[in-house]
Amino acid sequence: MGAMPNPSSFFLTTPIFYVNDAPHIGHAYTEVAADVLARWHRQAGDDTWFLTGTDEHGQKILRTATANGVHPQEWADRLVESAWKPLLDTINISNDDFIRTTEKRHEEGVAKFLQKLYDDGHVYAGEFEALYCVGCEEFKPKSEIVDGEGAFVGEKVCAIHSKPLELLQEKNYFFKMSAFQDRLLALYEERPDFVQPASARNEVIAFVQQGLEDLSISRTSFDWGIPIPWDDAHVTYVWFDALLNYVTAIGYGQDDAEFDRRWPASHLVGKDILRFHAVIWPAMLMAAGLEVPDHVFAHGWLLVGGEKMSKSKLTGIAPSEVTDTFGSDAFRYYFMRAISFGHDGSFSWEDLAARYQAELANGFGNLASRVLAMNAKYFEGRVPAAGTETAADAEIRELAASVAVRADEKIETFAIHEAIAAIWELVDALNGYITEQAPWALAKDPANDERLQTVLNTATEGLRVLAELLEPVVPQATAKLWSALGAEEALGALEGQPIREAGRWGRLPAGTQQHPLAVLFPRIETEEKGK
Ligand code: MSP
Repeated sequence: MGAMPNPSSFFLTTPIFYVNDAPHIGHAYTEVAADVLARWHRQAGDDTWFLTGTDEHGQKILRTATANGVHPQEWADRLVESAWKPLLDTINISNDDFIRTTEKRHEEGVAKFLQKLYDDGHVYAGEFEALYCVGCEEFKPKSEIVDGEGAFVGEKVCAIHSKPLELLQEKNYFFKMSAFQDRLLALYEERPDFVQPASARNEVIAFVQQGLEDLSISRTSFDWGIPIPWDDAHVTYVWFDALLNYVTAIGYGQDDAEFDRRWPASHLVGKDILRFHAVIWPAMLMAAGLEVPDHVFAHGWLLVGGEKMSKSKLTGIAPSEVTDTFGSDAFRYYFMRAISFGHDGSFSWEDLAARYQAELANGFGNLASRVLAMNAKYFEGRVPAAGTETAADAEIRELAASVAVRADEKIETFAIHEAIAAIWELVDALNGYITEQAPWALAKDPANDERLQTVLNTATEGLRVLAELLEPVVPQATAKLWSALGAEEALGALEGQPIREAGRWGRLPAGTQQHPLAVLFPRIETEEKGK
């Protein structure tokens, strides 16, 4: 290895999604959060790599494919092409790679990794009997086994899926995970930001402190999986296979330079799959002599009627239902703004429609169109030059600098909702500034000309700052605004603007020729959605 560490490397992953069904807005939520972070870091000039993909092996997929009368590979191909890849367009995701666990690069990498663990003595053969949830693809810990209700009275069911558990008894290969208990506890202690937020970290520590068992990593009762390299009567346990996507996608065992450039990653996961990422995964990496991830961040669930939205419980809403009416920018903004990242949140059409109208259309969109319209009317569509600065102008300039710094700090700690809230302080302040300065009144008397120029210069520069800071969240609207500002010609592509310097004042030169702006967030008739 021996490559230089890359301090500005930012490798971000989403979980890879099961292809047993089509995506709902809970899945899209993880994707959008990751995309906002990736776009932010890319725009900051960090060496960014954003990975997503699909998890295609295991019993869950096998059963769905069989029930539909097709081979699991055919089923996976169909779902990936018809549902999962199109999702990325629906919500405007800028991933750099898409990995499928049925790809050769992945299967070969998994075999290499397993063989290494086996050769180094981390794997042994044993007997096993326990309660398994196919929905979770996991032998359930006692804390998540509950008594069934309704049709399942008298049975033990999974606390997450509310479906009966299956008693599995097999000869399996085991990974000696218990040997890593102390090293894991030391890791959580030494690096308090390894698992975030703090509530997730506490949960993980409590779990590991109870004592770790070894992990069954192979199956013999079905064959839809990656063969165990030294014993092809077994296939690899689907989670062991799936977690490895994070390294096989960046060249593990094949391209050391690429691997060294990217690894370690920051992982975004839903809280239901935190344990796999914060316990099993680092233990696997330690066993293989690889670095553990930089961060594992667990976000909350989108709830419907107080429960996790899910297809199996028939509460799933397709992302296109939202974007067809409101557009992808509004989808991205709403879920990132309305739900504090790391906590559960409820989705409602009313809340979405209200925020769309108040914050996007009236707050941001209207601000942009008013300022550009006044520049067009009073200054032939050119950015006016600023004259003497008053206290009110200085306040806007200082606020712009401060929100840019604060938003970046919030993004560093995955607090996406707080980053957006900070940026919105500038939206609100600019709207207040325009109302107070009343440029239309200034325009009535030529004696106020310098003041009018200063006010509209300040407002236009404020829009420039907003376009740069909001690009990761609402890329379509900000692209329109950017070209209407004439900033494309004056400063170059929006994605190329150094986001950590967005608050530096006076970057859009006076005299820049502007262009007409299409309405950023058109009025929407929402009656039929207002359920
Ligand atoms: N295949 C595994 C992950 C393997 S990663 C090595 C898996 N797939 S999944 O399709 O079931 O879920 C993928 C992600 O979607 C998880 O992070 C999960 O938390 C998230 N969500 C599924 N339903 C959700 C909500 N209702 N709300 C928020 N996120 C949700 O698990």
